[in-house]
Amino acid sequence: MPEPLALGVLLSGSGTNLQALIDAIAAGTLDARIAVVISNVPDAGGVARARRHGLPTVVLRHGEMPSREAYDARVVETLREHGVDLVVLAGFMRLVTTVLLRAFPARVLNIHPALLPAFPGLHAERQALVHGARITGVTVHFVDEETDHGPILAQAAVPILPDDTEEKLHVRVQRQEHRLYPFAIQLIATGRVRVDGRRVLLRDAACAIDAVLANPTPPAT
Ligand code: GAR
Repeated sequence: MPEPLALGVLLSGSGTNLQALIDAIAAGTLDARIAVVISNVPDAGGVARARRHGLPTVVLRHGEMPSREAYDARVVETLREHGVDLVVLAGFMRLVTTVLLRAFPARVLNIHPALLPAFPGLHAERQALVHGARITGVTVHFVDEETDHGPILAQAAVPILPDDTEEKLHVRVQRQEHRLYPFAIQLIATGRVRVDGRRVLLRDAACAIDAVLANPTPPAT
């Protein structure tokens, strides 16, 4: 049996995406192990969650570091100490630098709560609502030097409903995040992913080519 993929999960928030990874590993649908959880926020819900599950957990406060690069050098050191293969940003609310990206080339993933390139940056669900979009969603992508920009591995669409608030939409977006992130990482764990410039080539990944999410939904013809 090949060694499971060793994940280093970086987070700043409640860690529901970390939980989805923990659950998928326990269910046997993700051939990986969580080698370390790193947070820049000591009292993040995700830190407590990681500790509750007995995962190695390291808090690296950014205030103590002279620069972003110095911070990322500590992150890289910690990831290497724990033998990490793939870096998984799961609500890590910091811009990463080339120090991390060069240490893990094409090995840093992020999840973003919108269909990139629409609505990058903070408060993506709020941006989609304010814009009046009717469909938004979730993107899992490789991280590059620009924010929410790197090659796209997987996306899921989520309709915006007339009575949506940011909170209601966030709940539905997160439900899709929790399905999509473990699945996307499993594609990597099973060697089915190759990055070719901006395009991510997938081997043996299904796509329902006639599936469409339209909002509003036209009558069936
Ligand atoms: C997720 O919704 C993720 O998409 C978002 O932070 C949330 C973390 O939730 N990330 C970004 O907006 C990055 N641009 P969680 O702590 O419950 O996993």
